[in-house]
Amino acid sequence: METAIEIVSVDHQLVIRLNQAWSKRATVCSPAKADVSEAFDPTRADYPERLVPFFHHPAFQALSEELKSSVLTWGWIGYNLRTVTAEELVVNPALSVIANQYLGPDDWHFREAMQQALIDEHYHTLMHLRAVERTRAERKLGAMLDLPPSVTYLRLKALQQELSEPWQQDMAAITFAVVAEISVNAFLDLLADDQSIQPQNRLVAELHNRDEYAHSKVLAEVAKVMYANMQPEQRAFFTRTLSQALSAFVAQDYSMWEAILSQLGVEQARQIIDETRESNRNATIMRDYSGLHRLAEDLGIGAQIDFDFRPTLKSEAAA
Ligand SMILES: [Fe+2]
Ligand SMILES: [Fe+2]
Repeated sequence: METAIEIVSVDHQLVIRLNQAWSKRATVCSPAKADVSEAFDPTRADYPERLVPFFHHPAFQALSEELKSSVLTWGWIGYNLRTVTAEELVVNPALSVIANQYLGPDDWHFREAMQQALIDEHYHTLMHLRAVERTRAERKLGAMLDLPPSVTYLRLKALQQELSEPWQQDMAAITFAVVAEISVNAFLDLLADDQSIQPQNRLVAELHNRDEYAHSKVLAEVAKVMYANMQPEQRAFFTRTLSQALSAFVAQDYSMWEAILSQLGVEQARQIIDETRESNRNATIMRDYSGLHRLAEDLGIGAQIDFDFRPTLKSEAAA
């Protein structure tokens, strides 16, 4: 089998440096960083207005301030729940398969990096679950709304159901996890830089973002080693599925917002969503695919990936 170094340039030193700094940089290693001294301020939004795709729609603007604030609160809760789903059902299983099946006995630093990332991700789940419970208590919310999973996650489930071999199902999750890990920073930046929202909410995003900056670098290197360790059939499958994963992340997804509006009793929910879908105003760059573009080029599969790698202008919540 060819080695990783022969196929692509793997930055082994970068991974070693990030591993060594883990105990200083990782949120899980300093849990006290997750607390802010500023008290909850009920007048501040839980979620940025600019990340609500229909915020400027006249029918939405005509709602009471209280109702608009509730939509932001449930948008924040929905974002957290989708993040938990992505960590628990996509990223963690995928990282575990990479660590246990696609790294060999001579890939120690890459294995070490995956174990550190898995610990980080488990802590992110705890941070986001705590954020949901804290928000429910602060806003004195009653029963939870019934919020649908993201279209991205549903597409992965549908793809896995079509696949007969367990290794293919695992590989599908790996490609979705690779895309998630190497493109999520742009969205977390938006939340982490927003000084208008609850300080505690902003901090959750900032701390998660800091870890993900390291993950995106590490995973790009691990992906090269993993790809080098694959059999030709697996490489071909990885390349094909990576295109599907990329298009699943840019699929339009207003399902969470529609559920929130209709369950909060907004009569024009349908109209607001339909008109927003058409106009796509209030668009913001939600994901940055430049790292994935670079990875595809490094793997020598750039020409086979059917995807426009330019930054996505989208306005729906990303998970
Ligand atoms: Fe994470
Ligand atoms: Fe991550």
